[in-house]
Amino acid sequence: MCGIVGIIGNTPVAPQIVEALKRLEYRGYDSAGVATLEYGHLARRRAEGKLRNLEAKLSDAPLSGVIGIGHTRWATHGKPNETNAHPHATEKLAVVHNGIIENFRELKAGLEAKGVRFETETDTEVVAQLVTHEMRQGRPPVEAVAVTLPRLRGAFALAFLFDGEDELLIGARHGAPLAIGYGAEEMYLGSDALALAPFTDDVTYLEDGDWAILRRKGADIRDASGAMVRRPRHKIPVGSFMADKGNHRHFMAKEIHEQPEVVGRTLAHYVNFTAGRVELPFELPFDFRALKRISISACGTAYLAGLVSKYWFERLARIPVEIDVASEFRYREAPLEPGELALFVSQSGETADTLASLRYATAEKLHTLSVVNVPTSTMARESTLVAQTLAGVEVGVASTKAFTCQLTVLLSLAIAAGRARGTLTPEEEKELVDALIAVPGQMSEAMKREHEIEILARELSKAKDVLYLGRGTAYPLAMEGALKLKEISYIHAEGYAAGELKHGPIALIDETMPVIVIAPYDHIFEKTVSNMQEVAARGGRIILITDEKGALESGLDTMATLVMPSVHPVVAPILNSVPIQLLAYHTAVFMGKDVDQPRNLAKSVTVE
Ligand code: AGP
Repeated sequence: MCGIVGIIGNTPVAPQIVEALKRLEYRGYDSAGVATLEYGHLARRRAEGKLRNLEAKLSDAPLSGVIGIGHTRWATHGKPNETNAHPHATEKLAVVHNGIIENFRELKAGLEAKGVRFETETDTEVVAQLVTHEMRQGRPPVEAVAVTLPRLRGAFALAFLFDGEDELLIGARHGAPLAIGYGAEEMYLGSDALALAPFTDDVTYLEDGDWAILRRKGADIRDASGAMVRRPRHKIPVGSFMADKGNHRHFMAKEIHEQPEVVGRTLAHYVNFTAGRVELPFELPFDFRALKRISISACGTAYLAGLVSKYWFERLARIPVEIDVASEFRYREAPLEPGELALFVSQSGETADTLASLRYATAEKLHTLSVVNVPTSTMARESTLVAQTLAGVEVGVASTKAFTCQLTVLLSLAIAAGRARGTLTPEEEKELVDALIAVPGQMSEAMKREHEIEILARELSKAKDVLYLGRGTAYPLAMEGALKLKEISYIHAEGYAAGELKHGPIALIDETMPVIVIAPYDHIFEKTVSNMQEVAARGGRIILITDEKGALESGLDTMATLVMPSVHPVVAPILNSVPIQLLAYHTAVFMGKDVDQPRNLAKSVTVE
């Protein structure tokens, strides 16, 4: 997650922007920069590496402007160097950006065809040039931004500063957070309340699709259609900044909505967006070609992420995978060969059962690769290799953003394995990486169904038992949906392979049993339709989670059909995590449960 800060101030803003960026260092970054108006004209200072390098540049060549924007960059498109550091600028404007503009290549080609020359490899520069192009046609800044934003696809937040406009900043939010701060004759923009804390506790969070025109006296907020909207102003209690829920009621809600941003950020750590290929951020101490199998071990939601990846490793890289819940693995005494790969998945990196399994594999002299969200955790320290998820701090006990970031890392590893073993051609790899790049924007789209899901949750809250069904990678997702529901609403729920229904569970089906079926339209969709017909024939009430084609083809009279964006089948489990998470969340909220701290549960189970 990059950091964004903007200030319309009364005193030189560059030092204040740097101080605010320091509060965002926890997000991780590899370069930083500031742009201000010096006597009305744009000036920039940028530096690779840490903020102290930027401070050194500012002390050598100070900026005195009282309006400016700043940024800490986590490289996605283009190397982490000064050229690619934000703010990106033209003669008309400077812009900073957090997230991914997933259609930047086609937009860039369109501008190059019009003779626009680019200096960097970044998607951000495409945004700068698009708005500049509109201004060169005579459009004023606000109008130029207004016509540009609808052309951008992906999950992003933006902040603009314009040459000659010393009372204007424009901010836009689409899938990555952005907040407005109100001061005394000053206005602020920031990635979150933490960034604005040095200036104000009077904050408004933009909603997805919103964009804001800031002037010294205040802000006009518009929605995606351009209509003026009002958003609530919050007084952020002092000291709550680190544990900031944003404008959500619960951490779980905030973390579900952070997914487009953090999945995009995690992805950026594992793929080269420009080249459309996986580039792991570490050397492998083993050769995928030499592996005869992979043993995976984890607990709970992390285990289910591992189970999804079994399908990917076996289908994309033709590597046999054995997977166990860690509490079984450590006592099964599985016959393992030294030099094999044992893969562990854990948000906390402290789960006792998973850690014990890691130690068992280490004792058996296997290579150990841990997918963890906490790089300083015990598992991270004891593994041969760490593949980090960049989900940020996950506070809600029910794991959400960590799960989708785990899937992102695991799919990247499976693609890398397929390339190494020659089971994926470069074209097949690019198709899969492009599908991954589109996921953050598609997750943003999926979240637009939240109100529909909230209404459905009220129905679901009346159930005593719920069955989740899925085939292929939707089968572990069905189990994850059941786990989410039961652990926060306390409604009994089970996830089952759809094809297994007729081997027993169908005895449960009657009109009191909601059956949630996760079935995007793919090569096994028809098989799942037959299972749904078996359910319908017995009066079962079906909630179908599918895509447009699946909704058309199912031919079923369902209790509800949630239509998600159509995505590449391989990435469907990442996208379809959103509706199952939201369904569980809203059901539990409607039932008045303690969503963030469910009874009997701990965020990290550090005991056996
Ligand atoms: C998931 O929603 C649960 N909170 C739980 O199953 C969790 O996934 C499990 O305890 C593993 O935790 P870890 O990822 O930190 O190892």
